[in-house]
Parts: sequence; C-alpha cells; structure tokens
Amino acid sequence: ASNSSSQLAQFIDEVPNFPKPGILFRDISPLLRNHFNATIDALSALYTDEDWKNIDTLAGIESRGFIFAAALAYKHQKGFVKVRKPGKLPNVHASIEYGLEYGKDSLHMQKGDGSRILILDDLIATGGSLQATCKLCEEVGYNIAGLACVIDLTHLNNFNYNGHGVRSIIQYSD
Ligand code: PRP
Ligand code: HPA
Repeated sequence: ASNSSSQLAQFIDEVPNFPKPGILFRDISPLLRNHFNATIDALSALYTDEDWKNIDTLAGIESRGFIFAAALAYKHQKGFVKVRKPGKLPNVHASIEYGLEYGKDSLHMQKGDGSRILILDDLIATGGSLQATCKLCEEVGYNIAGLACVIDLTHLNNFNYNGHGVRSIIQYSD
C-alpha cells in the first residue's frame, strides 16, 4: 500500500501494434503479477472511508474489470456484479451496444436492486465501454456511486456521465 501511483506505472508494459496496427497497448500483466495488493489498495484509496459507506455493490466490466471489482468487493465486504459480453449471462434484464477503440460489442446485465454501484474497469480508452455500462447500470436498476479504473488514456476521452467523472491510479495523456 506504500507504492505511489508513479511506482506502479513502472509495471505497465507498452506493446506497440497490439492487437492491431497503430494501437499502443498498455499491458497491466506485470502490475498484476508483481503488485496486485498495492494496485487494489491504490484503487481503494481513490475513495474515502465515508465514500465507501455509500457504496453497496461493485460492478466489473468483462473481463479485466472483473479482477478489480471482485477484489474491492472482497476488501470492503460488498456485493459483486458482472457486466458481461454477449452469450454468457443467463437472465439478462437489459443489453446495450457500444463502440470500442478497436471493435464493436455489446454488454449485458441482470436486474439490479436499486443499490449504489461503483463501476470498475482496468483501462479507459475511448470511454465507450464505460459510457455504455453507466447507461446499462441505470437501466437495470442501480444508482451510480462512482467510476474507477487503473489506467485512464486521457487523450482518448474526457469522460463524464451525468456529472460522474472517472477516478484512476495512472493517467497517460499521449
Ligand atoms: C478493453 C478494456 C476496457 C475497454 C476500454 O476491454 O479492458 O474494458 O476495452 O476501451 P474503451 O474505453 O474504448 O471502451 P476489451 O474489450 O479488450 O476486453 P477484455 O477486458 O476482455 O480484454
Ligand atoms: N491497453 C489495454 N487495453 C485496452 C487498450 C490499451 O491501450 N485500449 C483499449 N483497451
């Protein structure tokens, strides 16, 4: 927990032309392998103890968002819900289509319970996945409490959903 975000940033690999030409892929694998606890603690510290009291449920965006939402749910003794890609989830209540930095997909959720939800992902690029997830969470019946990620590629988005900004550990502006 004593790692500053700049120390954690050393464990992000930059992979040119993955998964397509022209994409500089920021790979969190070394960070997960070497500093998983510190990464979860850094995400946790984006919110105060008072903020955490006002969060009931953690949502993770498939698949890398699951890692962080699930660990934070355990740490703070909250519930965990999945925001899933097509064809995986039974009892889907609502779905939404969205654009990716390198593709197009849709996300699916089961019915919500009116609780206050914190949405997690590993990285925000265009913001398409997160924007779609925000709409979907409200549509299925959650109240958005916050949005957080490990890495924000700030040059690709200026994210805001109805006044909710994104909190992140590491930012890249180019
Ligand atoms: C990546 C990443 C975010 C999203 C970011 O997921 O984990 O969910 O894309 O891009 P955006 O801000 O432009 O929407 P991906 O679809 O590659 O799925 P994965 O986590 O299963 O690898
Ligand atoms: N790195 C990792 N995941 C991603 C990226 C990236 O640059 N863009 C969209 N998802």
